[in-house]
Amino acid sequence: MKVAVLISGRGSNLRSLLEVAAQPGYPAEIVTVIANRPGAGGLDHAAAFGVSHQTIDHKDFPDRTAFETALTAALKAAGAEMICLAGFMRVLSSGFVRQWQDRIINIHPSLLPLFPGLDTHARALAAGVKLHGCSVHFVNEAVDGGAIIGQAAVPVLGGDDPDKLAARVLKAEHRLYPYCLRLLAEGRIRLIAGRVAIEADPD
Ligand code: GRF
Repeated sequence: MKVAVLISGRGSNLRSLLEVAAQPGYPAEIVTVIANRPGAGGLDHAAAFGVSHQTIDHKDFPDRTAFETALTAALKAAGAEMICLAGFMRVLSSGFVRQWQDRIINIHPSLLPLFPGLDTHARALAAGVKLHGCSVHFVNEAVDGGAIIGQAAVPVLGGDDPDKLAARVLKAEHRLYPYCLRLLAEGRIRLIAGRVAIEADPD
C-alpha cells in the first residue's frame, strides 16, 4: 500500500513509520512526506530515509480549498492510496475528507473518546485519570471523532507533569502507529457501521 505522511513539526511518529517501512516485508511503502510548515523537523527524517518530501505551506494559499487542491495534486502525483496524519496541525475540510473517505488515519495523544483536541496531557492530569494513552483512528468530519483502529495505554504516575506524561505516551505512539498501519495495509481492517473490526492474527 502506497502511503503519504502529512506532518507539521518534529516528526517522531513519521520516523517510527519510516523505520518500519524500511524493513523487508512491511506491507506499506511511504511514497511521500508533505509538511504544511517550512522547516518542519520531520522533513529531515524523510531525507535521511531517502523518501520524497516537500513543503506545501498553507500560508501560500488564499484559502483552505486552494491549499487542499495543491495537497491533492501532490498526493496524486506521488500515487498515494492512503494518508497518515502524524502531528499534522491543519483541520482538513469535509470536502477533502470525503474525497479520501476511509483512507485517512491519524494518531491522537489520548484514549479517545476522552480528550479530543489539544492539550490532552494537561487535561488528563487535571481530570485525575490513572490511565492515559494514544489512539489511531480514521479521520472523518468530526475532529478526532472517526472510528478507532487501535489504542495503547500508559499509567499516569505520581509526580507526572504534562511533559513527563507526553514523553511516556509518545513512546507508546511509536509502537502503535506502525502496528495499526500494518493491520490496514494487510487488509485486516473492516469498517462495519462506523466501527472498526480487526481480523484476528492468522494461527
Ligand atoms: C503526537 O503526540 C501526535 O499524537 C499528535 O502530535 C504529536 C506529533 O508528534 N497528533 P511528532 O511530530 O510525531 O513527534
